[in-house]
Amino acid sequence: MADAAANHRDIESLLAAQAGRTRLRLIACGSVDDGKSTLIGRLLYESAGIFEDQLATLTADSVTMGTRGGGLDLALLTDGLAAEREQGITIDVAYRYFSTATRNYILADAPGHEQYTRNMVTGASTADVAVVLVDARKGVLTQTRRHTYLVSLLGIRRAVLAVNKMDLVDYARGAFDQIEGEYQEFCARIGLPDVTCIPISAVTGDNVVSRSAAMPWYGGPALLGLLDAIPVPDDPAAKPLRLPVQRIARPHQDFRGITGVIASGVLRAGDMVSVLPSHRQSRVTQVLVGDREVESASAGRSVTVTLADDIDVARGDVLSAPDHEPGVADQLQATMVWMHEHALMPGRSYLMKLATQTAIATVTRLKYAIDVNTHAHVASRRLEMNELGVCDLDLGRPVVFDPYVENRDLGGFILIDRLTNETVGAGLVQFALRRSQNLRWQAFEVSGSSRARLMGQRPCVVWLTGLSGAGKSTIANIVEKRLHQLGQHTYILDGDNVRHGLSRDLGFTEADRVENIRRVAEVARLMADAGLIVLVSFISPYRADRTMARELLPDGQFIEVFVDAPLSVVEARDPKGLYGKARRGELKNFTGIDAPYEAPEDPNLHIDTSTVSAEQAADRIVDALRSAGVISAH
Ligand code: ADX
Repeated sequence: MADAAANHRDIESLLAAQAGRTRLRLIACGSVDDGKSTLIGRLLYESAGIFEDQLATLTADSVTMGTRGGGLDLALLTDGLAAEREQGITIDVAYRYFSTATRNYILADAPGHEQYTRNMVTGASTADVAVVLVDARKGVLTQTRRHTYLVSLLGIRRAVLAVNKMDLVDYARGAFDQIEGEYQEFCARIGLPDVTCIPISAVTGDNVVSRSAAMPWYGGPALLGLLDAIPVPDDPAAKPLRLPVQRIARPHQDFRGITGVIASGVLRAGDMVSVLPSHRQSRVTQVLVGDREVESASAGRSVTVTLADDIDVARGDVLSAPDHEPGVADQLQATMVWMHEHALMPGRSYLMKLATQTAIATVTRLKYAIDVNTHAHVASRRLEMNELGVCDLDLGRPVVFDPYVENRDLGGFILIDRLTNETVGAGLVQFALRRSQNLRWQAFEVSGSSRARLMGQRPCVVWLTGLSGAGKSTIANIVEKRLHQLGQHTYILDGDNVRHGLSRDLGFTEADRVENIRRVAEVARLMADAGLIVLVSFISPYRADRTMARELLPDGQFIEVFVDAPLSVVEARDPKGLYGKARRGELKNFTGIDAPYEAPEDPNLHIDTSTVSAEQAADRIVDALRSAGVISAH
């Protein structure tokens, strides 16, 4: 969210430089069918926001691709790149700039197609006002309600409903009044306080820039006048100081500059600041904007700061007003907006980016999903793409945050898939969970390794992964017998067995498997801490979950063994008759048939059991344990 905003900072500061003008950030919601592109095009055109070269392209494109018989097709102005236009859809958020006599506008154009949440979150997280479009003939649709709900969730307090295509309903007042009533009622229900409705026609220009003669019954201003009259939003400079640290510059011994963009408040030379999460305080000695020393700088500015004391400051820390410190927590409750085809799974870990901080985040509990149409809380085990929900997050380390309603920059975050690096969700921090403050990790004096030393071994988890029937349990059994003979202390955690007890409540959906592996990984960790050599034999089909298991253990204590065999071979073996059942459709979600298996990319050992016997496979594992120093060499 912050990055998208940063890209536009240059243009923004240019715009703001025009003296005495206020600035308003808009997000336009609606679909192409509602006439959104045409409306935006008209706003740009009439307010001379279109640059000359764009106009030349537009004239040419209107002839080849336009829908207005060669006349100017304003929709083409906003439909993005040529390649996207040819597909007939707009992809991603586009920022448009236009101005009136008194005000500069930055308009985020978020497309209304399937990926709309991703785009709307990006556009709405920085917007002050939502301009929501509906077609006068269709009225308030599910989509209108979804978009409005989403923008209000993202902190927007004002909406303008543009009832478009009034020319197609003969400028009839009745049509408008009905839509207005319905929309106002909806907004009151979701707690969106400030809503204005306006009848327009983007194609003809009625009530867009000037009042339309065709609708004398409408007493309000035209859309642009309406937007111009909206009070300027709260000044972020008036809020407590927050400066998320981007980097530390140390060009020479005597200078240490702390660099970042001020998220809120004002930073002045001479002020005391508190560095979070350490809570250390120091005095600001210098504030630099570029190379220039200034007395103060406010929200939105990129600055370099020096402090009087050489206290520890690192990327991700937040310089704050000492009397209004942000929170610090490693467990949070947040509203999540899911953006990826791969659903959010409790138990799975993601990378969280909040301001300039990065942390590993595990969704420990999905409290409920939110039905965007009825706003009902719905019990759910997962969040699919475009779904909203409230969940608990457990973070790998404490992060500095504000509730999203107080500060969008320190309360908004994204979750990233750790393997693909894709952004999969956006979150809004609600509050820290108190239990994180009441729980400590107790340190005991006898350590895992001292326990293991008594047993003449090093603790270790040997994680066998592979398809059902690949030979995991058979191999684990032989390895354990060998280790036992060697006097080693071991334990086997096996899928079929654990599912009779600890995981009795779980099935084979993706969410259940994630939870199954999480439990097993935690138990394996405890057993390794007890000093044991733990043999884990689970299909564990998802890479992310095996990575999570690896990360629970100290370096070198996790040995991943890929027990591999082609599907045709395990299917022919079919020791429990389950492949047969799955093929006949009597068993659902069977790994390798209608559920995925993600093979390890870089296992410590890769054993193909179609060419290697179980005895040989066990030998290789025991050898690997010897060379890793888990058991002694003789
Ligand atoms: S995992 O995917 O969560 O790791 P786990 O190893 O615990 O699976 O359990 C796999 C065992 O459960 C298989 O060996 C098989 O005997 C049994 N099983 C029953 N249904 C399924 C299914 N749909 N997919 C895979 N294994 C299944």
